[in-house]
Amino acid sequence: MNAKQKHMVTGAFGLSGRYIARRLLALGHHVETLTNTKPAEDPFGGAVISHPLDFNDAEGLARSLDGVDVFYNTYWVRFDHKRFNHERAVRNTQLLFAAAQRAGVCRVVHVSITNPDENSPLPYFKGKAQLEKTLRESGIPHAILRPAVLFGDNAILLNNIAWMLRRFPIFGIFGDGQYRIEPIHVDDLAALAVEHGANANNITVDAKGPESFTYRDLVHAIGKAIGHDRPQISIPPWLGYWGGRMMGAAKDDVVITREEIRGLMAGLLATDSVPTAPTRLTDWLAENGEWLGRTYQNELRRRQ
Ligand SMILES: NC(=O)c1ccc[n+]([C@@H]2O[C@H](COP(=O)([O-])OP(=O)(O)OC[C@H]3O[C@@H](n4cnc5c(N)ncnc54)[C@H](OP(=O)(O)O)[C@@H]3O)[C@@H](O)[C@H]2O)c1
Repeated sequence: MNAKQKHMVTGAFGLSGRYIARRLLALGHHVETLTNTKPAEDPFGGAVISHPLDFNDAEGLARSLDGVDVFYNTYWVRFDHKRFNHERAVRNTQLLFAAAQRAGVCRVVHVSITNPDENSPLPYFKGKAQLEKTLRESGIPHAILRPAVLFGDNAILLNNIAWMLRRFPIFGIFGDGQYRIEPIHVDDLAALAVEHGANANNITVDAKGPESFTYRDLVHAIGKAIGHDRPQISIPPWLGYWGGRMMGAAKDDVVITREEIRGLMAGLLATDSVPTAPTRLTDWLAENGEWLGRTYQNELRRRQ
């Protein structure tokens, strides 16, 4: 591929898309984004051209993708809600892949999830498996990256665990808390995306950092880093869910869903594969514990 290429990233003002765009710009590429977000302050100073992520305009999506060498797809929705849901996100992503195919995009780097499964009762893991299949069958050269959970900046899950640890004297752990979770730094995910964007082979890789935690140990690690390592008590998942519902009502947000608790407790956020990313969460926590969790990160407000 030529040195100066045209790269398209979904969500360049969001979490992973921002890091991918930053790395591509640093390599001297021409970078554009598909997004519905208009940031108050452009982190790229106008260097990233923005197109609407409009799923009612398939032609417009294909036009935006015209001449693109590599398309990085981070688009997805976290849970089912009255304004968005996984079923629609699957259809929307299939539209994106079809638009990429029509536009003659040379390569797609697609962000999936650990342990996707077409037979899963959990729509997140089922939808991601359907999309991996669609991409493989499309014939577009591709890389599929499978992270479990991201950390860095204001990534919601870890930040909001820290937020709860700062405010409450004890921390409720769903069940025994022995299920595993394998986080990756968002910039390591971006590095993998850019690396695999430059390759030519079709590949599927787990995107995971070097540390594997039990959920209990993860909460202790966060607690120690922020100076609030609270006593943990085991609670039944339904109680944790309703605790989350009450907090969500107070914050006008969805804190956690039943499906997210089931996925976490089923160990779906960990794999047997070798780590593919270098940054240790414990090192990052040591440097960022001071601010982590001081402000609640509201998923729904991000999407208004
Ligand atoms: N965050 C994690 O811990 C985590 C863990 C495992 C896997 N992943 C996967 O990593 C990818 C990127 O995650 P991220 O946290 O970096 O995502 P993000 O930046 O918050 O969003 C990525 C893209 O999806 C769009 N989007 C997100 N939620 C939406 C909604 N409710 N309605 C409409 N559009 C929505 C965003 O639109 P705008 O550009 O308009 O904002 C953006 O283009 C996703 O495919 C996710 O499944 C993330």
